Amino acid sequence: MNLCVLGAQWGDEGKGKIVDLLTPNFSIVGRYQGGHNAGHTVYVSGQKFVLHLIPSGILHPGVVCAIGNGVVIDPTALFAEVDELARLGIDIAGRLFVSEKAHVILPYHRDIELLAEARRGERKIGTTSRGIGPCYEDKIARRGIRIGDIADTTGDGPLASAIRENVDVRNRLAGNSDVRWQDVLADLRKLWPRLQPLVSDVSLYLDRAMKAGKRVLFEGAQGTLLDIDHGTYPYVTSSSATAGGAATGLGVGPRAIGAVLGVAKAYTTRVGAGPLPTELLGAMGERLRETGHEYGASTGRPRRCGWYDAVAVRYATRVNGLAALAITKLDVLDGLDELEICTAYRCGSETLTEMPGDTAQFAACEPVYETLPGWKTPTKGARRWDDLPPNAQHYITRLEEVSGGAAAAIISTGSERDDTIIRHPEMLGLV
Ligand code: GDP
Ligand code: IMO
Ligand code: MG
Repeated sequence: MNLCVLGAQWGDEGKGKIVDLLTPNFSIVGRYQGGHNAGHTVYVSGQKFVLHLIPSGILHPGVVCAIGNGVVIDPTALFAEVDELARLGIDIAGRLFVSEKAHVILPYHRDIELLAEARRGERKIGTTSRGIGPCYEDKIARRGIRIGDIADTTGDGPLASAIRENVDVRNRLAGNSDVRWQDVLADLRKLWPRLQPLVSDVSLYLDRAMKAGKRVLFEGAQGTLLDIDHGTYPYVTSSSATAGGAATGLGVGPRAIGAVLGVAKAYTTRVGAGPLPTELLGAMGERLRETGHEYGASTGRPRRCGWYDAVAVRYATRVNGLAALAITKLDVLDGLDELEICTAYRCGSETLTEMPGDTAQFAACEPVYETLPGWKTPTKGARRWDDLPPNAQHYITRLEEVSGGAAAAIISTGSERDDTIIRHPEMLGLV
């Protein structure tokens, strides 16, 4: 069975750790959307790896990693990541492939993003400044440059004219002519010799591999509430982070996705602007941020922290068809006297048990909490369900009950691979 692993909250749920942990059960790991706005952290025996574009399965020798057509790629960022992995002793030779149909992030995309954010003023989204949004804009507007297009070496061919037109747009938007299209083109062409050996028809590769009985793990970036369609629009990223994105973003049929595992923290975090009903602005928020080291893996920005929002995860269970959850960072809650779980929202005179579709209404929602007792015996590093203190077991059981019916198949109790309880391997096709 193939498995899709994705974020069930606002990103940074610990997808990297879970993908790395599960990778030995798969032959291929495919990333399907987003770009180097993602930061997926993996710890192996105290060594830290942060993956941005490259699938989090790359640390396992022999596993093939594919970057799908749904991903947007800044080739310079890709090479920086390959170099960093090489420095840490990870060789990608012959096992990293990039779809020829993936769109390319060019330096002017970042300029356009900075301008757009500045123009929004107080309404700014708090993007990662990686050029992600403007690159997807060009894709949807049908003027984007795809990885395979860089092969065109003709002086005034399709690549040159597309870049000329796009740089024109950039210069008009910026009100200056700071960028010369000839320079952009020349810089891009210099990257081709290193890029070319990685370029592949990823959809065809996956089809053949699956027909040969190989198992694929589909890795999502960001999270359900940041999804372009299902997230808290416009405070979202520009791609399909939900399960449907795995099919379009890698060129496989929906039936290739055997099950979907949603990763959710035992509390909630968000980076950037937009509503977060359970946000804790006082000492408790600070406590979660410091104990959980809640600072962005890509940008270093402090993450906004709050209690577990079961309404949001319930929504993620619905829009992704989650079979199971991986609940991460349980250990961060060790030692608290009491914990709150948000089970509904109070919105004016109404009590809502489902996420409202209207973002302004969502922003006006107040959490309705249920209080549970905390635990004093640490869960950190626990590897068996029976090792968890009864109140921690009770907390997880209650999360399952209010999160839309997805069972907590995995519970993570630390950042290392082994700090994990695999409670329902059968749900993930692991037995
Ligand atoms: P991702 O973007 O979903 O892959 O998540 P990030 O890597 O951005 O953020 C998750 C952070 O939590 C990383 O620093 C992980 O090392 C860390 N982490 C993951 N699982 C656990 C856990 O169970 N306990 C603790 N304490 N840290 C964890
Ligand atoms: P991973 O994969 C958390 C957020 C940004 C911003 C919004 C739009 O590590 O979970 P963008 O640059 O994508 O246009 O920014 O999305 N964001 C993330 N937040 N984790 C991520 O990735 C994110 N990628 C983007 O902070 O609010
Ligand atoms: Mg992250």
